[in-house]
Amino acid sequence: MANHDFAVVILAAGKGTRLKSNLAKVLHRAGGRTLVEQVVHACMGLKTRGIHVVVGHQGEQVAALVTPLGAKTVLQQLQRGTGHALLVARRALAGAKCVLVLPGDAPLVRTETLAELMRAHRDGTAAATILSAMLGNPAGYGRVIRRTDGTVSAIVEQTQLAQNQRDINEVNSSIYCFDLQKLWPAMARLKPENAHRELYLTDAIALLAQGNQTVLARVAPDANEILGCNTREELAEVDRTFRRRAAEKLMAAGVSIQFPETVVIDSEVIAGTDTIIEANVQLLGRTKIGANCTIRTGSVISDCMLGDNVIVKPYSVLHASRVAAGAQIGPFAHLREAADLHENSRVGNFVEVKKSTIGKGVKAMHLSYLGDAKIGDDSNIGAGTITCNYDGVNKNPTIIGRKVFIGSDTALVAPVRVGDGAYVGAGSVVTENVPADALAIARGKQVNKAGWARARRREMAVKLAARPKRISKKTKASRHKNKSR
Ligand code: UD1
Ligand code: MG
Repeated sequence: MANHDFAVVILAAGKGTRLKSNLAKVLHRAGGRTLVEQVVHACMGLKTRGIHVVVGHQGEQVAALVTPLGAKTVLQQLQRGTGHALLVARRALAGAKCVLVLPGDAPLVRTETLAELMRAHRDGTAAATILSAMLGNPAGYGRVIRRTDGTVSAIVEQTQLAQNQRDINEVNSSIYCFDLQKLWPAMARLKPENAHRELYLTDAIALLAQGNQTVLARVAPDANEILGCNTREELAEVDRTFRRRAAEKLMAAGVSIQFPETVVIDSEVIAGTDTIIEANVQLLGRTKIGANCTIRTGSVISDCMLGDNVIVKPYSVLHASRVAAGAQIGPFAHLREAADLHENSRVGNFVEVKKSTIGKGVKAMHLSYLGDAKIGDDSNIGAGTITCNYDGVNKNPTIIGRKVFIGSDTALVAPVRVGDGAYVGAGSVVTENVPADALAIARGKQVNKAGWARARRREMAVKLAARPKRISKKTKASRHKNKSR
């Protein structure tokens, strides 16, 4: 795809008044990314001479997102309409023969569709080629007005439609290719003659057509691709379409998804064959899941790497962590950042792991906090074990060797080490290192007092008998009644 004659301009300066938000429209999210990032991603594979994003509202935030993707930004200080936005980018387009223009709020467009539009434009002699779509409900979009020979004479915005144009359902996507030499003279003649007093890029189409330039429109094969996000409802619909696409992509790759309409899967997520994803699961960010895994209901996994044959039981939350093959997690487990679970390890219910390495075959099955810890292979971490990693100022490490047995309800006060093969008695508060193969018991010694409980019960019974009897109101009343008879 050699498109070196083309530059790309993404119009992303608008506020998005119809969203009723403090956040600029293109910073809203769909399919796991901001709208503007989605559009930039769609353009990245086109091999053009450069991607320019016109920014305005919250422009610094937009720039911070698109610059790392290789795009450049142009500032549109005052937003005077889509035509004005393109004019602002004029200088940045020096040297380009053609421009591909996209709105920043139509994130579902696919790279292949854009490539196809550019190919059509390059192969023809049109001054402009519009990507259009047939919509069942075209309300809100500009309509494409065609002549009898199929060429386009104008785009008419919703508010300016004549009576006989109302049932046209071919709409303008706001994605166009223009020949720049032909475009600029038309752009110079744009006038803010509309309710918003803006320069509409759509008016350039009629100006080109009136100047005997050819304008063509190609209908997008999938109308969903052009959907805009002007309202919260449209945003939700676009997000749903992204999720459906991602679920379909995984299913096509051999992943089973129960109730696909309930799962949330971001665009970059991948999963291996025969993995099963149950209802209401969220797979977010750059999560990679191996083959033959089961992700059970209600689990939320973001930016994680899971090997093959991993089982994530219901309602577990995993973030920025690695889980090696055969490991089992949950139900109700929490892996926070940099948890690193090795092969066949098990982290059970109500166990929280942060910045810790959990060795091969380790079991930490119940009610624990393991933070800044390193746990050697085949160790057993008893129920209720806590690594006390924070001393109020610093985070300190807990190093546990191989084949260690930590008894239930142990507090390991870091920094501390437990050597290979050692045992720690239940209920210990371990403040000193435990040598390899030793038994550490760090708790009060147990004392059994013979007969103490029996004596206590007797004492209580005597006390109870000596107490004056209390008469209830009811008894009092009935005694009174009997007397008066
Ligand atoms: C626009 C088209 C309409 C088309 C629709 C498709 C115009 C006049 N209308 O309408 O024909 O059917 O897109 O989605 O172009 N922007 C700027 N600077 C500005 C104004 C807008 O950068 O001064 C950006 C916005 O941030 C947005 C894009 O341009 O990303 C489109 O603007 P928007 O207000 O959404 O136009 P629509 O009303 O959707
Ligand atoms: Mg729009």
